[in-house]
Amino acid sequence: MEKFIIHGNTRLVGEVEISGAKNAAVAILPATLLIDGITTLENVPNISDVKIICKILSSLGASVTWTNEHTVVVDSRSLNCTHAPLEMTSKFRASYYLLGALLGRCGDVEVGLPGGCNLGARPIDQHIKGFELLGAKVDCEQGRISANAKKLTGSTIYFDVVSVGATINLILASVLAEGTTVLNNVAKEPHIVDVANFLNTVGADIRGAGTDIIKINGVSKLTGNHTYSIVPDQIETGTFMIAALASGGDILIKNCIYEHMDSLSAKILEMGGKIENFGDSIRVSSSGKIHPTNIKTLPYPGFPTDLQPQMGVALSIANGTSIINESIWDSRFQYTNELIKMGAKITAQGKTAVFEGVDHLIGAPLYATDLRAGAALLVAGIIADGVSELYNIHFIDRGYEHIEEKFRKLGTKIERVNE
Ligand code: EPZ
Repeated sequence: MEKFIIHGNTRLVGEVEISGAKNAAVAILPATLLIDGITTLENVPNISDVKIICKILSSLGASVTWTNEHTVVVDSRSLNCTHAPLEMTSKFRASYYLLGALLGRCGDVEVGLPGGCNLGARPIDQHIKGFELLGAKVDCEQGRISANAKKLTGSTIYFDVVSVGATINLILASVLAEGTTVLNNVAKEPHIVDVANFLNTVGADIRGAGTDIIKINGVSKLTGNHTYSIVPDQIETGTFMIAALASGGDILIKNCIYEHMDSLSAKILEMGGKIENFGDSIRVSSSGKIHPTNIKTLPYPGFPTDLQPQMGVALSIANGTSIINESIWDSRFQYTNELIKMGAKITAQGKTAVFEGVDHLIGAPLYATDLRAGAALLVAGIIADGVSELYNIHFIDRGYEHIEEKFRKLGTKIERVNE
């Protein structure tokens, strides 16, 4: 097991390059299984979740080759298995995309019940309801979920909750179905649009991604020999924007999409930060004096739950009292216990946390409880007085590529060492 040793009191200054989006990559890689051909994906983040999904695709018979650090070529012509290894699929969340992709291509699939970060209950009832409406039989037993159908037929599906995973999974399952599928009350995150753009590039007919209703006209096949570049990571971009604000720094964040950051930018401006838009890069600077604010997490274009812990770090040193209301996940304030060890004054109860800003945080031994909590605690260590040791950094490696190198280039003294 590895840990980070972080020397704090750092004002982050310089440039950082954003990687491809994790949550797009972990959906687009399974989507390549729908194609009876070769697909080249560029701007693929080199992170552990992506490496696991590549291993799973290989275990199903697809040929997966990294041609450079960020380019993956998948040849799905050799797909010969629809039952994914349980020990690999049950470890992480995005394995549920194999359900939609393999059901769509082969009419048969079995995976381990998806695991992932412990953020409270993570049901997949909306995925299952959608597959059943397309004509599939779905069974969940003994830690596995299987689905099969002789034929999938387009249907109208209304989602009871706005779900990223269910929206993408039903897109995957319906692109090759017979007839038209209409998905109502869908998620609109940038990675939803990216998955639809990818599938349209390879021959699908998906309309409306990025709005509340997506219409998919089934096609008979998707074609190979296409190259697609994955969208920049909205959450990594936001993590560095918040790090600039919290450290009183000045960071030029390159290879990102300004429009995806509207809800965060609005909050950073309210909190006293400055933002400049250069098209595909954003500069965030701050004097270090942070005004308090209130935040409620919501589906896109609302404030992303995946940036809530990082924002909690900035609010813990704001000049006054702030409230965060987490409306997506039941259990996403575990990181506040670690911030309290650093001197933060936070009262978290249920889905609400009250932050009474303190002058500064103090370095401490810190334990990441999930991916975004880990990123938040890394930022906390960077701005705190003294040295912090951050444990469980395998969570961070799931979603951030070379994170310590990126922060080192911005002036952080940070080492990755074996525990
Ligand atoms: C995706 O998870 C992301 N993961 C999460 O990011 C992110 O926090 C989440 O979307 C919300 O933006 C991936 O893309 C791999 P949901 P997902 O289905 O798809 C409820 C990260 O750090 N719900 O949009 O699992 C659910 O309980 C991770 O990168 C149902 O009730 O989230 C939650 O309250 C953590 N029934 C809400 O909907 C369902 O069938 C949103 O969940 C599905 C979801």
